[in-house]
Amino acid sequence: MKNANGYPIIIQGGMGAGVSHWNLARAVSRLGQLGVVSGTAIDQIFVRRLQAGDPGGHMRRGLERFPFRKIAERVWETYYIPGGKAEDQPYKTLPKHTKDNSRELIELCIVANFVEISLAREDHDNPVGINYLEKIQIPHLPSLYGAMLAGVAYVLMGAGIPLKIPGVLDRLANHEPASYTLQVTGAQEGDDTTINFAPRDFMERELPPLVRPKFLAIVASNTLAVTLLRKANGRIDGFVVEGPTAGGHNAPPRGHLQLNEAGEPIYGERDVVDLEKMRALGVPFWLAGGYGSAAKLREALAAGATGVQVGTAFAFCAESGLRSDYKQALLRRAINGEAHVFTNPLASPTGYPFKIARLENTLSEREVYEARPRICDLGYLREAYRTPAGTVDYRCAGEPLSVYLSKGGKAEDTAGRMCLCNALVANIGLPQVRGGKYVEKGVVTSGDDLTEISSFLPTERFQYSASDVIAKLLAA
Ligand SMILES: Cc1cc2nc3c(=O)[nH]c(=O)nc-3n(C[C@H](O)[C@H](O)[C@H](O)COP(=O)(O)O)c2cc1C
Repeated sequence: MKNANGYPIIIQGGMGAGVSHWNLARAVSRLGQLGVVSGTAIDQIFVRRLQAGDPGGHMRRGLERFPFRKIAERVWETYYIPGGKAEDQPYKTLPKHTKDNSRELIELCIVANFVEISLAREDHDNPVGINYLEKIQIPHLPSLYGAMLAGVAYVLMGAGIPLKIPGVLDRLANHEPASYTLQVTGAQEGDDTTINFAPRDFMERELPPLVRPKFLAIVASNTLAVTLLRKANGRIDGFVVEGPTAGGHNAPPRGHLQLNEAGEPIYGERDVVDLEKMRALGVPFWLAGGYGSAAKLREALAAGATGVQVGTAFAFCAESGLRSDYKQALLRRAINGEAHVFTNPLASPTGYPFKIARLENTLSEREVYEARPRICDLGYLREAYRTPAGTVDYRCAGEPLSVYLSKGGKAEDTAGRMCLCNALVANIGLPQVRGGKYVEKGVVTSGDDLTEISSFLPTERFQYSASDVIAKLLAA
């Protein structure tokens, strides 16, 4: 079911890292709604899947369609372990992203994004989207190019102000060089903070122009939507308007941060998006954050929205990438009325509030959090900063304290920070193993709608599928 202009009514929101993987997005798109894969850290996830022995042969299948064969073969030979790595052995991690990434890392970004989209498009002709966090800037250009090579139809981006992405899409569609400005704390005039990418440096043969995907920006205010429409360097095709009950990262409340008794950010009148003004912009928009029911979908349509973006309901369905023991434990909690989601203002190194579901043996529990040695070896959420010598270096408030302080970071920014990179990859069953013993623990993010997920369970079953969610949303 689509609206009159061919837009989907339901967008299955991008859920990083690897929760909305190709399998979930494919299931949703096959049913005629918009399936969205997460592009966050997909290079790391991809090489871990190869090191796990590529169960099911899916990565290999995707790689076989990659147009540049030498790159595909290099990647396969470097990372694939037949039968998978031994359980007590660590995964080989990739070098952390820096402004001047190695050719190897750039190739991996292209390939991994290509494979994810290519698999999500299998067995149907409907559009598939990809989601990125604007804040994780360094991989953007090769990632977008890889997704576009595979025919991605929508790019969705939040957690930042993606003014320069539309123009990048226009250029990459013609295989033209593109650039993106890296945000560098303390940068001075004259500093070179530009990331460059030229597709032709990687193309092994000429290809026709690619389809320029539609671009949807994820916003939490109508003012930001206006700014984006006025100042973006190309076409913005629509908006996802996300409220503070949504899973994942949330926009912080406007004004001075105030916390409730439990320690969660307090949102007020100023954080409510003016839907009249959204409608007046004349571009399609979807509402997100607690819209996972037929009644809320009707409400969104009545307010002039094209539809809704839903995350939480899909995160716990059978097709998602979330570990099945986590899914089942949280479903059980929801059924028993014991599901609890906490909006944590400190956990994410991005500084944005991050929603966390309480679950035993994950970082939501204080003793599990405190038992983890501070290590930063994936580095997706690192902040680029200018060193006193005028060079660019990187730091993360979740890394070991002494290291962070030595890079000019402030001690007060480190309290309660979690290594979301490692935890989110652990959530999808690809945890790092350290010293043969310590296995990284996950931390599950979910929207407040977690308490409602048992409503999707068919009678006498303990799991539900993406089609149960869609059927329920579209009922009547
Ligand atoms: C497990 C999970 C991970 C998420 N990760 C991302 C993400 O990586 N990028 C993003 O833009 N939104 C992310 N979101 C937000 C969803 O895309 C969607 O907007 C949101 O879940 C909608 O609200 P709901 O959770 O109430 O359905 C995530 C949500 C969940 C539940």
